[in-house]
Amino acid sequence: MDNLLKLKHLYKLKESGVEYFEGFESKEMKINMPNELIELEKICKNCTLCDLSKTRKNVVFGEGNPKARLMLIGEGPGETEDKTGHPFVGRAGQLLNKILQNVLNLNRDDVYIANIVKCRPPHNRVPTIEEAQTCKPYLLKQIDIINPKILVCLGKTAFMYLMESDLPISKVRGQIFEYKGKKVVPTFHPSYLLRNPSAKKESYKDFLLIKSML
Ligand code: URA
Repeated sequence: MDNLLKLKHLYKLKESGVEYFEGFESKEMKINMPNELIELEKICKNCTLCDLSKTRKNVVFGEGNPKARLMLIGEGPGETEDKTGHPFVGRAGQLLNKILQNVLNLNRDDVYIANIVKCRPPHNRVPTIEEAQTCKPYLLKQIDIINPKILVCLGKTAFMYLMESDLPISKVRGQIFEYKGKKVVPTFHPSYLLRNPSAKKESYKDFLLIKSML
């Protein structure tokens, strides 16, 4: 976690009355994660580590090809995903399917799709730092097991929480970053593209870059 995020997190904890905080790395270290995706999914589906578990209908663990070279990371489940337990199945998901098909010539079965948080934040709000940090070990283990060549961060939240960066998505999109030996390409979230169709041109360029890297 970068220092800015740590500071924000500490201020939030202080506001809520916490006087001593053990450390940022310890939470991730304490959870012993299995090396099998199916076992990891079982644990994740019973997770109650944060308050999002109280309002979820379903845990949206993630799905796709467990040996995918391309892994896409979104922010968190929306209403349809929460209802069905599957990632990116609402309107944004349909647009994502079209992009994958039309630009990369790939189906959903060819890629793996997961989110920063596995449970829906109420009213689709952005996950808090605490929720993201609590849920992140599941995502990191998914990345570890699947071992994709490229990670695509869909939108600012995915990039911010994966890379621990506060930079706007408009500044980082279409650039290649690195995370634990994997290439990371941030691009616009499909929901943003639905609201701002003129950004599809840039998104198209980003996916052409991803195609060239695969
Ligand atoms: N938006 C996301 O970020 N993830 C989903 O799974 C659905 C919509």
